Amino acid sequence: MDQHAMDRYIKSMIKEAGHRIRNSFLSDISVDTKAHANDLVTNVDKDVEKFFIEHIRKDFPGHRVFGEEGFGDKIEELSGTVWMLDPIDGTMNFVHQRRNFAISLGIYEDGIGKLGYIYDVVNDDLYHAVAGGGAYYNDERLPMLKDTDISESIIGMNSMWATPNRHVEHEATIRLVHEARGMRSYGSAALELAYLASGRLDAYISMRLSPWDIAGGMVMAKEVGAVASNFSGETANLLKSDTFIAANPSIHGKLLQDYIKPKPKS
Ligand code: IPD
Ligand code: CA
Ligand code: CA
Repeated sequence: MDQHAMDRYIKSMIKEAGHRIRNSFLSDISVDTKAHANDLVTNVDKDVEKFFIEHIRKDFPGHRVFGEEGFGDKIEELSGTVWMLDPIDGTMNFVHQRRNFAISLGIYEDGIGKLGYIYDVVNDDLYHAVAGGGAYYNDERLPMLKDTDISESIIGMNSMWATPNRHVEHEATIRLVHEARGMRSYGSAALELAYLASGRLDAYISMRLSPWDIAGGMVMAKEVGAVASNFSGETANLLKSDTFIAANPSIHGKLLQDYIKPKPKS
């Protein structure tokens, strides 16, 4: 299947999955916890991951899937084609708000991002990107990001990091809160990356994200000139969880240098 056909195939699969998720609102959703009491997973997260995997295994038998809920393959290296899937990114919002969540998908070949999709299910908004072919909001091509400054930026970040915590010096975060134009916390890494790519946010910062949270968004961010890295400035490693910052290129370095002060690991 060539890239155009694959793009059409993926879009139709994502729309069908979105339809299933919206339908799930009509019945009871069963909620469990994973690593801790606020780390939620539902039967819908699992069903949607299985839905994608069934299709991928049938139509792309040589490809592998790295899915959050664990129904895919055990991925220890990124050779060949790997689909990185978060069936519902923002499960807490899905459970509590029935909005502000997304399907997130990135297709990587030998570790290089080729296609990225973030689908805001409730608003029926699909963001997608083709490596070297641009990023799109529905069918509208997204322009390259224009230079900005901290004082004119809206930053996506969890408000927790402006309170005493063991990860970062909160005084530096408080300075950012004062000096940026505004702070936002949407609760879906994928949507926040889609907002960065479409200029609604100027940066998105997180203490810990997993490959499936960022895989689709990284392809998108690159297509509009955004820069993504961990807090040490290294390119995200798509095999493990890590700190993460994606930003307009004109403020990425400044954010890392002046406002994000990681504490030494104890
Ligand atoms: C979570 C969301 C959230 C981020 C967490 C992620 P999930 O994904 O993206 O915004 O802060 O780190 O785990 O668990 O809802 O797929
Ligand atoms: Ca996620
Ligand atoms: Ca998820």
